[in-house]
Amino acid sequence: MVKVGIIGASGYTGAELIRILSAHPKAEITLITSRQYVGKPLWECYPALSPLNLVFSDHSDDSAFDGADFFFTALPHEASAEVVARILAKGKKVVDLSADFRFNDPEEYKAAYGPHPHPDLCRKAVYGLAEIYADQIRGAILVANPGCYPTSSILPLYPLIKAGLIEAEGIIIDSKSGVSGAGRGATQTTHYCEANESLKAYKVASHRHAPEIESHLSKAKGASVKVAFTPHLIPMTRGMLSTIYAVPKAGVKRADMEKAWREFYKGRPFVEVAPGEVIPDTAFVRGTNRCMMAVRDYPAAGRVVIMSVIDNLAKGASTQAVQNFNLMMGFDETTGLAGQALTP
Ligand SMILES: NC(=O)c1ccc[n+]([C@@H]2O[C@H](COP(=O)([O-])OP(=O)(O)OC[C@H]3O[C@@H](n4cnc5c(N)ncnc54)[C@H](OP(=O)(O)O)[C@@H]3O)[C@@H](O)[C@H]2O)c1
Repeated sequence: MVKVGIIGASGYTGAELIRILSAHPKAEITLITSRQYVGKPLWECYPALSPLNLVFSDHSDDSAFDGADFFFTALPHEASAEVVARILAKGKKVVDLSADFRFNDPEEYKAAYGPHPHPDLCRKAVYGLAEIYADQIRGAILVANPGCYPTSSILPLYPLIKAGLIEAEGIIIDSKSGVSGAGRGATQTTHYCEANESLKAYKVASHRHAPEIESHLSKAKGASVKVAFTPHLIPMTRGMLSTIYAVPKAGVKRADMEKAWREFYKGRPFVEVAPGEVIPDTAFVRGTNRCMMAVRDYPAAGRVVIMSVIDNLAKGASTQAVQNFNLMMGFDETTGLAGQALTP
């Protein structure tokens, strides 16, 4: 059993980590931390998790990190980098769910988020998209868990760009996220009365996930790739749909793209091409580590339309973090991540 600590366990991704890791056959949760709930039992924060006998600790003192051997940091960016640096100094491994280590180049981070608090650590991090970077993740001490929008966008686009089936120019990514994507702390935007019965784009032409997406699509292409990315807040609790418009190379059809996906993701249990004529629905992957994708030809528009669904709190955050934990610890990547989506 690996003793695991969850830092920032009172947040949504932290709670999801607790839910998944409490049933993981090779992990034992020995530390959960929060500033607001120090000394309080887990049920006071999440009554739904009341069968679990866990109490929140404080992580302000480094001695807290002696309580586990492997850590998940589920904190806001910047706060996360500080804590990750302290955990690494103790010689322990970390999966960081924040954006703090998603760019190896601190200058790229700075352009999106501002100066990095620990630029020295950026190069140590491996980007935790297991379907593409599994070999590097296996040997990593620090894994930067991908953003949810990048996960739903890179997974369908990377193989198509790498195989030269679509033009890397002119890609439009139109994404919708459930409100849990903004975390547990309510803001005016995520307040029920503002978000319910309403649909809006936000951070238009300026969302920080665009450079993260571009960075990995550029690796697929071997040259700079830029995308037009627009996120939307949709009035549901969890789930994410990315609808992507791209120009196919001459003669390329749906069957060629589906074949490329199947070949690229062969043996990768969490990525699937939607069966038959099914159009992916966020409900099909709710609570799972899966990404379901589909593509349709749209010759009248000179485009293909790609659809990709994930659960933002699962494959977009916490189950993906556990997938990375499995690889870093030498376990089968599916350990503790079995189970189907809820039906309906
Ligand atoms: N929600 C998603 O779908 C999603 C998806 C992918 C990635 N992420 C990333 O995952 C991280 C956690 O997201 P979340 O949705 O779980 O957020 P959240 O619900 O707001 O939880 C944040 C956690 O961090 C703690 N915290 C807040 N400010 C802090 C600070 N300055 N110093 C130390 N601890 C602090 C909070 O607990 P206390 O206030 O009790 O200390 C809480 O436990 C973020 O970096 C987010 O961008 C989220």
